[in-house]
Amino acid sequence: MSVNRSTDGRYVLATGDEAERRLELVDAVHGRDTASLLERAGVGPGLRVADFGCGIGVVSCAIAELVEPAGEVIGIDISPEQIAVAERRSRDRRLANLRFITGSLEEPGLEPGSCDIVYARFLLMHLQNPRDAIRRMASLLTPTGRLVIEDGDFSAPYCIPLASAFDRCFELYRGAVSAMGGNPRIGPDLPMMVMDEGFSWCAVSVVQPTLREGEAKRLPEWTMLEARETLVHAGLAIDSEIDAIAVEMERLALDSTTKFGMAEMTQVCATRR
Ligand SMILES: C[S@@+](CC[C@H](N)C(=O)[O-])C[C@H]1O[C@@H](n2cnc3c(N)ncnc32)[C@H](O)[C@@H]1O
Repeated sequence: MSVNRSTDGRYVLATGDEAERRLELVDAVHGRDTASLLERAGVGPGLRVADFGCGIGVVSCAIAELVEPAGEVIGIDISPEQIAVAERRSRDRRLANLRFITGSLEEPGLEPGSCDIVYARFLLMHLQNPRDAIRRMASLLTPTGRLVIEDGDFSAPYCIPLASAFDRCFELYRGAVSAMGGNPRIGPDLPMMVMDEGFSWCAVSVVQPTLREGEAKRLPEWTMLEARETLVHAGLAIDSEIDAIAVEMERLALDSTTKFGMAEMTQVCATRR
């Protein structure tokens, strides 16, 4: 599989059209917990929200529905391919209060202090300097604004009954993220990282979705396949091993007697006062 890369060349997975189905599966797995986090964070009508590393805009669209009619959502992603897909999807849903920007944490294209909520899912684990990212996101908040971040611990997934292909699949993904300078176990570190940036209040939840059936069980396999280029380039696996694990992961996914515990998510909602 040949895949698009984000413009800084440091993102381990595919972008644009190749990424769309997998990111839909990410939401099928984690969307319910995200919705509950957004509700606890008070995301509602009239707020101005930035969604960093928005990907194809799945969560941005959900937030746009929560803040309408007077609120606004800005989805920001470093990859123009992701933004092109996000724009097409939001046009299909006719969400007038949602726009997308190709931008980065360094150059977000937003005024400091202009957002009520700054949100990110599965972004910080891919960054070389997540503390810097938290500081930059925080700088966009109004004085009473809320920083809402959720990210994973990819050492937590499990398969029942035990399956070596499952364990190896996640070992490879952790290796690929690390090889690109990210931290696949960042979740548990998030609360302390956020408090270190001067937030005085921080609510924390830890959730781990489990799956028995459905296409969402293909997520680990598809993620590993998207990381193939990094895995091979970094010498972490050869193509034949990746292919063999993918075959076994598909078999496990289609077997409704196996249970998958997916990435454990740490969800943080923080304010300065
Ligand atoms: C795993 S995807 C998550 C997408 C989305 N948040 C979701 O949960 O469906 C991570 C996204 O972060 C983007 N990204 C990586 N580095 C970035 C940066 N420095 N600034 C903005 N976006 C970045 C990638 O292009 C990718 O779309």
